[in-house]
Amino acid sequence: MKILKTVKEVKDEVKAWRKEGLSVGLVPTMGWLHEGHLSLIKNARENNDRVVVSDFVNPLQFGPNEDYDNYPRDLDRDAGLCEKAGVDVIFAPGIEEMYPEGFCSYVDMNGLTGGLCGKTRPIHFRGVQTVVNKLFNIVTPDNAYFGEKDAQQLAVIKRMVLDLNMNVKINGCPIIREEDGLAKSSRNSYLSPEERKAAPIINKAMTKGREMIKNGERDAKKVIDAISEIILSVGITKIDYVSIVDSLTLEPVEKIEKDILCACAVYMGNSARLIDNFSLEI
Ligand code: PAF
Repeated sequence: MKILKTVKEVKDEVKAWRKEGLSVGLVPTMGWLHEGHLSLIKNARENNDRVVVSDFVNPLQFGPNEDYDNYPRDLDRDAGLCEKAGVDVIFAPGIEEMYPEGFCSYVDMNGLTGGLCGKTRPIHFRGVQTVVNKLFNIVTPDNAYFGEKDAQQLAVIKRMVLDLNMNVKINGCPIIREEDGLAKSSRNSYLSPEERKAAPIINKAMTKGREMIKNGERDAKKVIDAISEIILSVGITKIDYVSIVDSLTLEPVEKIEKDILCACAVYMGNSARLIDNFSLEI
């Protein structure tokens, strides 16, 4: 496995693979890898001749008061996990390599990004789209892999690829959970022992919401209220949002009549903002 730091090195490597007719899978990450990432890598490994993992904490997708500075970073640890998982190349650029002086081009969209996480993180998806675009242009993957935990991100990237006629297949992979149901996330490392103990309430509440809909409840507000009540029953949580949206447009629905995405973001203590979701076909 190679750890490459420059765009040129990655492009040269991919060019050599292409000469041999090999297919390429890309797993974009911000590092601090966990089992969620490893399931994306496994999927990529099984379906491509070569696998590239990008490991870059992208400053463009963090707001001014967010956790960019504190985001956990450990390339050696990530490299060990990638090596074991059969990754061919880690692309770990510095900020200057991705955003050299004078950088001023961005990728953005008008729909899909205004609600859910976009409400409290207004510049987030522009940052994600821009960096993912750059990664696609650098690696030119046949396949790229994203977790369904970031459901809005996955929808945004699928739409961007469709709208901009990009030559990459986007593969969504299921949420990986801890034994107690908490969705795996690099940000779980921010939780104090007390918060970590309380955090599975998010999945418990979402499971209750899913059951309500499966049992025939069609009033979105009733489901949202029930989920919110359970989450707030643990004193150290504060809700950013619980929403039920059309799974294609991401617009809120009042009556649950078409396929939906139910998503939430919850603050735990002072430092962690955790997300979770489920989709249902109606
Ligand atoms: O999901 C993430 O870790 C990031 O948003 C991504 C896709 C790697 C872009 O920085």
